[in-house]
Amino acid sequence: MNIEKLKKEWFPLFNSKELKSKPLAKTLLGFKLVFARIDNKVVCFEDRCPHRNVPLSKGSVIRDQLRCNYHGWSFNSIGELKNIPGCKNCNKNIKLQTISTAERNGIIWVRLEGNKKLNNYFASSAAYSSTISFKHLKADFIHSIENFLDPTHTPFIHKGLLRNENGQSMSVTQESNESGFKTYYKLNNKQNGLINKLFDSGIDENIASCSFPGFTTIEYLKNNKLLFKISVFFVPINKGKVQMVVNVNLIKTFVPSFLKFILLRPFLELAFYQDKKILESQYKEHTFFKKSYKIVDTDLVIDHLLHIFYDKTKGVNKTLDIDL
Ligand code: FES
Ligand SMILES: [Fe+2]
Repeated sequence: MNIEKLKKEWFPLFNSKELKSKPLAKTLLGFKLVFARIDNKVVCFEDRCPHRNVPLSKGSVIRDQLRCNYHGWSFNSIGELKNIPGCKNCNKNIKLQTISTAERNGIIWVRLEGNKKLNNYFASSAAYSSTISFKHLKADFIHSIENFLDPTHTPFIHKGLLRNENGQSMSVTQESNESGFKTYYKLNNKQNGLINKLFDSGIDENIASCSFPGFTTIEYLKNNKLLFKISVFFVPINKGKVQMVVNVNLIKTFVPSFLKFILLRPFLELAFYQDKKILESQYKEHTFFKKSYKIVDTDLVIDHLLHIFYDKTKGVNKTLDIDL
């Protein structure tokens, strides 16, 4: 993956409630980071004390400083070394590099490098209610994204839940640019899974989009009106470790949204568990066999993903009918 390009992007890393008075260790793109609340600000540094390389996340926050628990070196909110215990005259001209953070939507966002602005990824209008949750997979990054955007696995991995085999036809068109792609599915039949039998009032179109560095959305529409939207920000934590930040949006109706979320949650959790199982086993075998695989026309997004994340040849925009 093009790590240098990814380092310049913002990622949603954790629920801001996780960060209390103690420092917190997290990893992003394989980089070990420490987070702390100092002077009411969220600060982030590489998780390494410059004295003897022990993790600063094992230290503590004392007043307005992050203190290493080995020899007590203490750093302020902008990473300046403020105290070396027992050594008044030591040169303290040492500074930790600060890493950009932002607190938004109850999430701590991080950008390792550069000065790009944070997009309002999880914005939603007042007509919709939304919830956010965090999921973790021991899987490959782009194959996890592919799975979320792929309808052809649904009658098998989610048999009965999202779709059954037969009678599921859809017309697909696609568009793309340098940073992402969008697939439009006109559904010729109502989805025949249990979730749809219970909750779907006649969805006739899905629009699935993905943009660099891993923000994906599937919109569910009826007569061009958006009824339901699920956005997942895929975060590359480390090799073989993916975090999904899942934002579910439901249109408000006379039925209270919290009730709908309570009813819908077990079904979505089951669908997630089914995907997690197959993605984790795919990752294991993929790293074991290390062989290339076959790509066919109904693999709608893999070439686009390889293009935007691995700088491979530009993906082909597909127009086809799929009969599942
Ligand atoms: S290793 Fe951190 S103070 Fe010595
Ligand atoms: Fe799935």
